[in-house]
Amino acid sequence: MLDLKKIKDEFKLKLGKKLNLSEINQIKSDLFGKNGHITLEFKNIGKIAEAERKNFASELNLVKGELQNLINIKVREIENIEINEKLEKEKIDITLPERNFIRGKIHPVSQTIDEISSIFSEIGFSVAEGPDVENEYNNFTALNTPDNHPARDMHDTFYLDPKKEKLLRTHTSPVQIRTMLNDKPPFKIIAPGRTYRSDSDQTHTPMFHQVEGLHIDTDINMGHLKGCLNYFIKEFFEVKNIKMRFRPSHFPFTEPSAEVDIGYEIKNGKIVIGEGDKWLEILGCGMVHPNVLKNVKVNPDKFQGYAFGIGIDRLAMLKYGIKDLRAFFECDYRWLNHFGFDPLDVPTNYRGLSR
Ligand code: PHE
Repeated sequence: MLDLKKIKDEFKLKLGKKLNLSEINQIKSDLFGKNGHITLEFKNIGKIAEAERKNFASELNLVKGELQNLINIKVREIENIEINEKLEKEKIDITLPERNFIRGKIHPVSQTIDEISSIFSEIGFSVAEGPDVENEYNNFTALNTPDNHPARDMHDTFYLDPKKEKLLRTHTSPVQIRTMLNDKPPFKIIAPGRTYRSDSDQTHTPMFHQVEGLHIDTDINMGHLKGCLNYFIKEFFEVKNIKMRFRPSHFPFTEPSAEVDIGYEIKNGKIVIGEGDKWLEILGCGMVHPNVLKNVKVNPDKFQGYAFGIGIDRLAMLKYGIKDLRAFFECDYRWLNHFGFDPLDVPTNYRGLSR
């Protein structure tokens, strides 16, 4: 009994101190391990005189329980301290100012291509693509452009080999050919992309962008062409009314052919689309020439339709008030910061992300 009290007092004292987990484990094994004090006392029970045995056993159990309890409390204390330390360390200080970061801007041409694609996709056009490096056949011959046509002149076309077989496409119209050669009618596609001509001034750059449109089916006429372009221009410029003029023109791959002007006026130094009595040419179009259809093995007696080619950069300049086309491609970061679009704050009619 005396031993028990000694053990109890000694270990109560120890457990009253500040301990870490390994010190507690040590105490545990000192008490309850194979040769621990309490374990040994239990082994001693048999040696104790019978008269005292019962008393001793119950006292031993009490001491055991008490010490175990103290240990448990101590362990929980340590765990709490650890959790609190962790919480303290991982605390997020929301009063800190945000880190400075630079968000890129969407180039006005990319923005415009996205807008054009979404507008046409809503009326059933899908987007087709072709390579910038084209062959002479797709770019000219298949498009009913005879050998002596001025468009083939070295001045306009960047040829890539002396034989003039490979070139940088001068328009997106070869995508018409690629699309029709690869598939069966009906066709209803737009093809936005880069185009190249040897030309440079305030409104011309050697590389520029066009979007081609092609709609071929059994019953497509010029009324559809007019309706489609009228819809597009209104949607693109976000105006209710648009003044449009179809001017007779010539392209080898369309018959009849037209160039389309839209009405505008300058109000307080700003261009207003759809009103006024000034005209601005924005695209070429027409009914696809039967020879083109024959070249791609589409029967012109059964299928017909329209095509158009719109200058994307010019549309972007008009819509976003950019005066010099060359600035588009000079990669001036300050310019892009000013005219570019915040990817998280896109204009209302930009359907690519917001719908
Ligand atoms: N490809 C013509 C150009 O670049 C535009 C066009 C396309 C005209 C389709 C008619 C039909 O000028």
